[in-house]
Order: sequence, then C-alpha cells, then structure tokens
Amino acid sequence: MADDRGPARTAEFMARLSEALGPKGVSTDPLEIAPHVQDWRGRWTGSTPVLVKPASTEEAAKAMTLCAEYGLAVTPQGGNSGMVNGSIPYGEVLISLKRMNRVREVDTLNDAMTLEAGVILTRAQEVAEENGRLFPLSLGAEGVATIGGLISTNAGGVAVLRYGMMRDLVLGIEAVLPDGRVWNGLRGLRKDNTGYDLKQLFIGAEGTLGLVTAATLKLFPKPAVKETAWVTLASPQNAVELLARAKAASGGAVTGFEIVSHFCMDLVLKHIPDVRDPAPSQAPWRVLIELSLPRPEGAHDMMEGLLADALEAGLIEDAAIAESEGQKAAMWKIRESIPIAERAHGKALKHDVSVPVSRVHEFIEQASAMVKSMNPGVDIIAFGHVGDGNIHYNLTPPPGVDADRFLEGEGLKLSAAVHDLIWRLNGSISAEHGIGKLKRDELATRKSAVEMEMMRAVKRALDPENRMNPGRVL
Ligand code: MLT
Ligand code: ZN
Repeated sequence: MADDRGPARTAEFMARLSEALGPKGVSTDPLEIAPHVQDWRGRWTGSTPVLVKPASTEEAAKAMTLCAEYGLAVTPQGGNSGMVNGSIPYGEVLISLKRMNRVREVDTLNDAMTLEAGVILTRAQEVAEENGRLFPLSLGAEGVATIGGLISTNAGGVAVLRYGMMRDLVLGIEAVLPDGRVWNGLRGLRKDNTGYDLKQLFIGAEGTLGLVTAATLKLFPKPAVKETAWVTLASPQNAVELLARAKAASGGAVTGFEIVSHFCMDLVLKHIPDVRDPAPSQAPWRVLIELSLPRPEGAHDMMEGLLADALEAGLIEDAAIAESEGQKAAMWKIRESIPIAERAHGKALKHDVSVPVSRVHEFIEQASAMVKSMNPGVDIIAFGHVGDGNIHYNLTPPPGVDADRFLEGEGLKLSAAVHDLIWRLNGSISAEHGIGKLKRDELATRKSAVEMEMMRAVKRALDPENRMNPGRVL
C-alpha cells in the first residue's frame, strides 16, 4: 500500500476498514484475491494488499472515505472481463462491486430498471424479460460482465447498430466520488436539459473519476420475432451494401450485422466443439444478419425477399436462413466463439478499430494489403460489428515465430501501421474495448493537445489527487 507513513498507519487503515465493512467486506486472503489480479486472457497479473467488497452504497462510501483519508489509490472492478488492462490493480486498494447485486426497481410504464453495479449482464437481461421487456446489451462476456463494469467501459457488443452502446442505455447513475461523497443521479428521465450531463462523464471513464454503484437503465419492447441468416459473400464492400439494403428493406429492423472472415470460420470449426458451418463455402467472407420485428407475419418472407434480391444483385453468394431457435443460437454461437477460438489458436495482436460504416471495406482492403506486404506470414483474424463500423482486426504471428517476441517486436510496427491507417481514415483506435493501461500512452499521441487537456481538466476537477484507477486512460 502506497502509504509512506509506515506500517502502523497501514494497520490502522485495515482495522478501520474491517470495522466499517465487517468480515464479509474485506479480504487479504491471497487465494481469494488471486482471480481478481489477473485478466481472463492471462496477459496481465497485478497485486493488491486488500480486496474490498462493499454490499451497499453506504459501505462503498465508507471505504472510499477511508481511502481518501489515508491517501490511498483505488482500482474499481466489476466482472474483470475487460480487454485493455483497466481493472487489474497494481498495488492499489481493489474494490469489487460484485456483492452489490440487487435489483432496486423495475418501472415498466417508464421502461426503466434500476440495478446495482454488481448485477451480471445476463441477470439484467432476465429481469427485463421477466417484466415483458428487452434490455438489449449483448456481448460474449455477458455471463460475467457486471452493470458497473459495462457502464465504466461504455460496453458495445452485437446490438449497437439498433440500440446503441451502454452510454445510450443509461438514464441515470449513482456514483461514489473519490472523496467518499455519494452522488445520487438515478433519474429515470428521458428529458432532463439542466446543464452538463454529468453521468456521461462516468460512463466510459474506466473508474478514473469515481465508483459507479447503481444505474437506471432503459428497457425496450421485446421483438415478437427475430429472423437470423448466415450469408456468404465475396467482399466487405458487398457486406456494407447489403447492410444498407437490409436497413431499407426492413424499415430499420436490423439488430445484428456481424462480419466473419473465412479464416475465423475455420478457426471456430477447428477449436469449438459442436459447430457446423451453416453455409459451407470457399467465399472469403460471411455475414450474420438479424432482423427484430414486432410481428411474426411476413417476417420470414422479409428476410427471404432481402436475400433473394441481394443474390440477384450479385451481392451475396449463398445464404442459410435459420428455421428454428436452435439454428439461430447455432449461428450466434459461431460468431461469439471467435475470441475463444482465437485464444486457442494462440496469442494475437489485437486491434479494436472503427471507421465510418461507409469506409469499412476501404479499411479492411488497405490494412490487409499493408500487413501482408510488411509480413506475409501473419494470419489476419478479422471479424466484428460491421454495422457499427467496428472491426476486430487481430494478427497472429507467422507459424514458428514465438508469440511474445512477435507481440513485443514486429507486432509493435504492425500495430502502429494499422493505427496510422485508421487515423488517416478518420477512425478510432479503440471502438469499444476502451483504453486502460494498454492504450494509454498511444492515446496521448493520437488525440489533439486540446482534447487531451480537456480530459485532464475533467480528471483534475473530480479526482485532484489522482487516486482513482491511476495510470489508466490518462
Ligand atoms: C467481440 O466482439 O467478440 C469482442 O469484442 C472481441 C474480442 O473479444 O476481441
Ligand atoms: Zn466486439
């Protein structure tokens, strides 16, 4: 613990913390701490002297007040499923919000629910479902990721093109400030034009401004039916054109539009059990399309008509429409298993990039030509949310090359080149995974001085002692 006033003061802090939160709220047990100081991909290992587990906002505020009094830095943690080394402590006090997992309120007439930060995303989806509503956020880690973490990282996922990112799904938040004060901003208002929208500062702040302890979230009508199809096609350009057609033909009902390269499909078939290719083909690309519609009548015909027209226009090569819930789930399983298959394949250099949707194909074509000219042996794992202009463009070392050496050597040059290209295309080097420690230094070189200074000014205003998740983002 970074307290230079000696062990006696550390012991005093620990005693006061234990008294305030009780035995369930504080742990120094290395076995209990171990999974909290490692990321799920096994890339980073940190350390903490103490794991704090508040069960209520009041307890969280007590812990934060004590950390402020003793001048201690804090790393907040939700499900620890992040991608950018943002929630692993490196000597900071670790505050896990997982015990704060109550459903505080569901207001169906306002289409809103208020959940504590530790509620797991699948539970949030269930609560919505139990109340005849939809909570649309959906992503691979949904069985682990928590509402607080999803807010702090402004999570994306596979339904952003219709419902937006977490930022768009939050009506209000409750947060504990770095000095221990509680801000109750749990307003279930769709209109509130009363000055700065402070909740948005905390959303995507990666725990650098305070601790999000609860949130009021938007609910949506449940679609009566989902139509899902798996399409093979020749190019990302065809995929982008197909997306525009799908939006027009369905009246804006496209809720999923995910691209998968042939190489990704092969990886999934190789590493994930019980997977079958819905439309076997040598075509270089696949797209998973999902339409969510308010009525079953005509839904299937709509998807069939869209695909028949696309076939006639030469945009797609082949298509399979799911005929059952099982077939829909099987198509989604392929898409959502790609990160797991990638991990089984070996360590990869990750790029979570975005460009305007209209430039997705330009990015993929230019990046692929560039990467292959720089290093022909590299494998390209390209997939993701083409409907949001967000491609996961990951690279694995040539066969026989040590992955760590590649990541720390040649990989750095490749990453710089991919990100330079993204910058030239007016894109972002982190579309949905955030900044964490991983991209912190690069962020400062990419954003303008004026943008960085505005971000630092906000940080200084809310966390003048730089104790909240220091070294992440800024
Ligand atoms: C996904 O879309 O599957 C994830 O954001 C990508 C990843 O895990 O790299
Ligand atoms: Zn993604």
